[in-house]
Amino acid sequence: MLWNDSLATGVALIDEQHKELFRAIDMLMDTSQKGRIPEVLKFLSDYVDKHFADEQKLHASSGYPKAAVHRTYHENFVRTLRENVAKYNANPNIPAILAINTMASNWLTEHIMVHDMEFSRYYKSR
Ligand SMILES: [Fe+2]
Repeated sequence: MLWNDSLATGVALIDEQHKELFRAIDMLMDTSQKGRIPEVLKFLSDYVDKHFADEQKLHASSGYPKAAVHRTYHENFVRTLRENVAKYNANPNIPAILAINTMASNWLTEHIMVHDMEFSRYYKSR
């Protein structure tokens, strides 16, 4: 899936980065980009790190009370993503890519809808 308006938090930096993450996740399923899968996986892993770091900075600078627990959600996702990418690298095949695509888009969608929206409400209400 691609990013859509129902995922908009209204915090510009976060929304732009979420769009970029969905673009990379979506590219994994684009057969015309098949040769670029290792490159896209590397981009995705690096960009996830950058995005979470930026988001956590925003949590800290705005005094978000749920910053610590939110950080653990990010850390758990990074661990799962790393494991899945390592699995693909050890045995590159389509089901392994499909698994990464499904896991990452499901996690990101739910995380945004529940936890990033919660932060956005806090951020805008200050
Ligand atoms: Fe987050």
